[in-house]
Amino acid sequence: MYKPLEIAKDVFYVGVNDRSKHLFENMWPLPYGVSYNSYLVTDEKTALIDTVDICYSEIFFHKIQSVLGDKPIDYLVVNHMEPDHSGSIAWIVSKYPGIQIIGNKRTADMLKGYYGITRNIVLIQDLEELSLGSTTLQFHMTPMVHWPETMMTYVPERKTLFSADAFGAFGALDGGVLDTQLTPGRYRDEMIRYYSNIVGKFGSPVQTALKKLSGLEIGVLCSTHGPVWTQKENIADVIALYDQLSRYEAGNGLVIIYGSMYGNTEQLAEIIASEAAENGLKEIMMHNVSKSHESDIIRDVFKYKGLIIGSPTYNNKLYPGVENLLSALQSRYLKNRFFGSFGSFTWADATAKQLAAFAEESEFEILAEPVIMKQAMLRETEEKARGLGQCMARKILSGAEVVPNHTANCH
Ligand code: FEO
Repeated sequence: MYKPLEIAKDVFYVGVNDRSKHLFENMWPLPYGVSYNSYLVTDEKTALIDTVDICYSEIFFHKIQSVLGDKPIDYLVVNHMEPDHSGSIAWIVSKYPGIQIIGNKRTADMLKGYYGITRNIVLIQDLEELSLGSTTLQFHMTPMVHWPETMMTYVPERKTLFSADAFGAFGALDGGVLDTQLTPGRYRDEMIRYYSNIVGKFGSPVQTALKKLSGLEIGVLCSTHGPVWTQKENIADVIALYDQLSRYEAGNGLVIIYGSMYGNTEQLAEIIASEAAENGLKEIMMHNVSKSHESDIIRDVFKYKGLIIGSPTYNNKLYPGVENLLSALQSRYLKNRFFGSFGSFTWADATAKQLAAFAEESEFEILAEPVIMKQAMLRETEEKARGLGQCMARKILSGAEVVPNHTANCH
């Protein structure tokens, strides 16, 4: 039923698409699905690189058979043990009992813990190589991109890097698998959402990995999710995007995030946004935490260097949706943003202090004092909100770098 899909000489794509699951990791929406990518390298010896989610074991096996027929697989390289990739390992071992599993010490620990597998494991070290005949597998340890056991596998003779989660994107592969067969731009936002939601906490390990891999000549970039990148400009673009995101650098735009019970706090958000627009800023995204999914908000926070957050006081704390979001951003060590805040209260404000504490901990450049509204809009509050919108737009459009831990008073 399946035709072998050769993506480089003797390198075959055997991954699958998942358009059934609603939530990745049971948390992150998958409006366009997701792919679990796996690859076969064939030579005198044959190596399978990673597996797929357990729901797709059977289709996966048929895809492998379309390349190998009834021939055995010699090695299974486990670059990453998260179950979206390791879920079919036990199935593969049952189909190919002689297969040798290649991984590091942490991989072995997880193989035992998750699947009870303790036999036929070959432990490898950083930069160790394994010959398949005329091709070589070279192993590069890249811990915390995304789990501690994560590694990447490079085939120098094919200039092909199997990069585990790195450079991955949400979005099933609709028809084509290679970047030449599809519209790469379609996956850009889903790549940012994937990075910021799943890998965003690990900016520093990603930077370490990028530096470590910078000497490799990459002609084919094979992630475990999303398109296979083969075009020079696309590979450069994808690597540059990962570099930018993992340094917490962002584009010229503004995201305004707010909670609002009865619309008063929302009015402040509208005023700030319209003033920013009047001052020439076109890239403005607004999110009501009670409606937008946290996944999309996190994506936009990673996309834009301007961040303004607003909240009503609720039970003497921040609005719960806003509080959850701050926690999500803090756990991703978000930094390097121009920041403003606004809030509202009826009898005692709890927002200004908590939003300021968040900004200080994140080492943001704070553009203005929080704009705080008591009960409903006053002219003076409205003017402060306009001042914040204007100041943010000017700052972003000036092309200035964020000065960490700095407070500028725009009012
Ligand atoms: Fe795609 Fe970290 O698993």
